[in-house]
Amino acid sequence: MITRVSGTRDVLPDEAEQWQFLEGAARRVFARYNFREIRPPLIEDAALFNRSLGESAEIVRKQMFLIRSGDDTYVLRPEGTASIVRAYIGHNIDKSRRCAKFYYMGPMFRRERPQKGRLRQFHHIGCEVIGSVQPQLDAEVIACADSLLKAWSLNGYTIHLNSLGCPDDKAKFADSLRLCLKDRIAELCGECRERYEYNVLRVLDCKIERCRQIVRDLNIHGEHLCGDCRLHFSAVREGLDALGIAYAVSPHLVRGLDYYTRTVFEITHGSLGAQDAVGAGGRYDNLVAGLGGPDAGAIGFAFGVERILLAKEREPAGKIQRLIYVIALGEPAKKHSVVLLNELRNAGIAADTDYEGKSLKGAMRTASDLGARHVIIIGDNELQKQTVTLKNMETGEQIGIQRNALIEHLSKSEDTRD
Ligand code: HAM
Repeated sequence: MITRVSGTRDVLPDEAEQWQFLEGAARRVFARYNFREIRPPLIEDAALFNRSLGESAEIVRKQMFLIRSGDDTYVLRPEGTASIVRAYIGHNIDKSRRCAKFYYMGPMFRRERPQKGRLRQFHHIGCEVIGSVQPQLDAEVIACADSLLKAWSLNGYTIHLNSLGCPDDKAKFADSLRLCLKDRIAELCGECRERYEYNVLRVLDCKIERCRQIVRDLNIHGEHLCGDCRLHFSAVREGLDALGIAYAVSPHLVRGLDYYTRTVFEITHGSLGAQDAVGAGGRYDNLVAGLGGPDAGAIGFAFGVERILLAKEREPAGKIQRLIYVIALGEPAKKHSVVLLNELRNAGIAADTDYEGKSLKGAMRTASDLGARHVIIIGDNELQKQTVTLKNMETGEQIGIQRNALIEHLSKSEDTRD
């Protein structure tokens, strides 16, 4: 038997409904912030990521799925930000609008060692705003991430916030860190010894306890920021405070991609263990110019859909099942049920029935297996009186209701509305 590729998943219909819920809620939240959807291709020129994420980024060094075609090297996109900046520049979007706000959702590919919460094909729901360096925007983008989490009914998350400063600050920070760690290289984990050479800042957010202790000993508290970056960061924090958004300043948060400058943030969920980041983002004020575009500040974030779903699984469930199951007893009722199902569906109410003429008991069992919220029962008696019997599957309550009042009754009910 041919099995699926390691690090990929089949999303079966039960789970696909949860994806639709996340995507639908995200579209509504993004619309409130005036974001519009962008759909870049899944394959890009490999040079795009070498230049934007940085040759030293772990994604570029180890995790890209490369496709060679003649003299060209393409890559299955490992993230969305670089593609969106490429599209922004290529389509001259800066000429038509100053601040461009995009959102996106779709698969990303990284050749990682698969484990729980770490896949080779995973999915982002994210956004990017290009065209402003104002700290008000940082607060607003983080507020948007917070609104998404609320719309997805996720609790138990923490927003970690830090500022990396401008490129000069980052370079100075890296130099001083290299100096501080020089005598302790041998104590670092294998990966951090490599990071020391390629991307020393990444040592700061290593998850291995030995490295964490070494980092704690360094006692870092944002001393690397220049005056302007310090002011920018305090304005971002003031903005978040004014919006009532809770966050934790985390001086060790550095992020793995080269393009970040100033504000960076990561959202973790307490239930997830080692792969606890459900989403992350930050500013990338030099990327647009770095890829040949105008000087334009930018910021964005992306959530990992699979990790959001894992986190939701571990919280007390709030799954609302809205399905109505129609049980028709006898031929005349069956004929009538075809019309009723059509009416329900046209009114935006999810409805299904048993096509096989099962007994009442058997059909009730199917309704329960499907997790239906209500069952509508129609038999000869109901047909004659022009009523239906409506059963609430959660409470067991059963009422008779006039047929011509049924749709209105169900449309008003919170349980059935889309
Ligand atoms: P990232 O931190 O690499 O950032 O990815 C964002 C989120 O995607 C992570 O927090 C995690 O939830 C999820 N994720 C990443 N890798 C995997 C994986 N192998 N398996 C499952 N989930 C994963 C970015 O990609 C940036 N482009 C975010 C951004 C947008 N920054 C500015 N704008």
